[in-house]
Amino acid sequence: MDLNLQGKRAIVTGGSRGIGKTILETLAKEGAAVATCARGEERLNATLSELKEYGIPVYGEAVDVTNTEAFTAWFDRAASFLGGVDIFVSNCSTRVQAQGEERWRQTFEYDLLQHIRATELAIPYLENGVDPAIVMISSIAYAMAAPPEDERAYAAMKAGLVSYGSQMSIVHGSKGIRVNVVSPGPIFSEGGTWDHIRQNMPDMYKRAQSLATLKRLGTTQEVANAIGFLASPAASFITGANLRVDGGMLKHVNY
Ligand SMILES: NC(=O)c1ccc[n+]([C@@H]2O[C@H](COP(=O)([O-])OP(=O)(O)OC[C@H]3O[C@@H](n4cnc5c(N)ncnc54)[C@H](OP(=O)(O)O)[C@@H]3O)[C@@H](O)[C@H]2O)c1
Repeated sequence: MDLNLQGKRAIVTGGSRGIGKTILETLAKEGAAVATCARGEERLNATLSELKEYGIPVYGEAVDVTNTEAFTAWFDRAASFLGGVDIFVSNCSTRVQAQGEERWRQTFEYDLLQHIRATELAIPYLENGVDPAIVMISSIAYAMAAPPEDERAYAAMKAGLVSYGSQMSIVHGSKGIRVNVVSPGPIFSEGGTWDHIRQNMPDMYKRAQSLATLKRLGTTQEVANAIGFLASPAASFITGANLRVDGGMLKHVNY
């Protein structure tokens, strides 16, 4: 199936590694022009160099998505470089070290508010885009009523993001902008969270494998495939969806 992504203009937040990087590679392989950001410059520049090998326009700059002024300016520069925006993928998440109320405050900023800010920046560009689409990245943590204590704030914000994505699909649907959410289960990536867990908490890693119906963790490519599809005109009648990519980890009927 041709996804018709050739020539599309895509912004993906947090793309220097992990799922974001694979989303960018997937879009670039399909011929889309891409822009991304991350805080760490060295890793970002290495990723940008790799992306340029696909022969598509690539833009990136180090910026923190929670720095409203700097991020707004970055977003406008990225859109200007691409000559418009057809696809926006709100992927970025930041690991929080703080505890207690401060953990909730920071997680609200990193896992909900910055997605809202970025979406509001994207909308005016998408209104003039071709087959415009937004994909937000949540997590199956949103459905967990009893997550580990350290994951409570993250799970609650990811639930908020599923709600926000659904709301935005209705607010912007009449303009032809599709808004969908992808909720991954545990996804392995070299140097990522689950690589750390595999090395330092092998029992937890094995438990995660055993909980999935498919008895393994997912790959970043398996998540990126879902995002590439939902962002593409091939998904032209899909909006307001929340697609779990979790190997059957959540044992709920997915109405
Ligand atoms: N991996 C999983 O198992 C899993 C499961 C469910 C959901 N998810 C979701 O999938 C998305 C991607 O996760 P991931 O595991 O691929 O993350 P990751 O490996 O930690 O990568 C996060 C990316 O975002 C960048 N970033 C982080 N904070 C930033 C900030 N404040 N400003 C700008 N860039 C920032 C990072 O670069 P810098 O650190 O250099 O800024 C990096 O490029 C997230 O929304 C996450 O919640 C992941």
